[in-house]
Amino acid sequence: MSKYILGIDVGATGTKAAMVDIDAGELVTEKIKLKTPESKKPEDMAAVICELVDRFEQRGNPIGIGFPAVIRNGVALTASNIHKQWIGMPINTFLEEKTQGQIYVINDADAAGISEMTYGVGKDKNGTVILLTLGTGIGSAIFKDGLLLRNTELGHLRYNDNIAEYFVSNTARKRDKMDWPEYSKALNSYLEYVHKIFYPDLLILGGGISKRFELFKEHFGSHIQVVPAQKFNNAGIIGAALAWRKYYSKA
Ligand code: BGC
Repeated sequence: MSKYILGIDVGATGTKAAMVDIDAGELVTEKIKLKTPESKKPEDMAAVICELVDRFEQRGNPIGIGFPAVIRNGVALTASNIHKQWIGMPINTFLEEKTQGQIYVINDADAAGISEMTYGVGKDKNGTVILLTLGTGIGSAIFKDGLLLRNTELGHLRYNDNIAEYFVSNTARKRDKMDWPEYSKALNSYLEYVHKIFYPDLLILGGGISKRFELFKEHFGSHIQVVPAQKFNNAGIIGAALAWRKYYSKA
């Protein structure tokens, strides 16, 4: 098996891909980002995924995909920021037909978590580690002594009069025109909330804005240990490829 695998991170706004060296946990090509189609319907999103597979000349090859939904055995069970047509779809076989590839699909935040636990800030960390991705929605991955508890949806925790991602995602930050101090305060309240439920030993922030961690970290409560994902926004791509190696043959 080649140590280079295409990782694709499907988001509600953008879909990113790169070849990943799964032994090093690094991107070995430039990342290509395409816009996720407005309709967010399966056929349209599959066309974008196929375009990425073609750009990297990976038809027929192993492909790891992080997808913004609860995924059980390759089937999407939810669709919060994508079209409802995805619900109940066996994404793996659907995309296998489109790409002739060997597809492994996993929740996008779980993918990012695998990357951070294998090659990033969570490496060799025991206890409870939680990674939260801040993007269009909020994704989560929980690890206990390195073992992933799949498909947790901490962005969907009931919060104020809605779900948490409505108030604290990066989309919420832009929608409500929050400046960095305002956003950090909102985020900090949510992190405290998550903290009160799980008391994690480590909280990792991933997703697009993890690159700007320095801008908002000073407003975090000092008792919560929060760090940015070491691979920042590439964790989803790397983790998708790693998930292929870890789980594909067992799928
Ligand atoms: C979805 C999660 C996903 C997260 C980040 C949420 O709206 O429900 O499954 O991980 O967005 O994309």
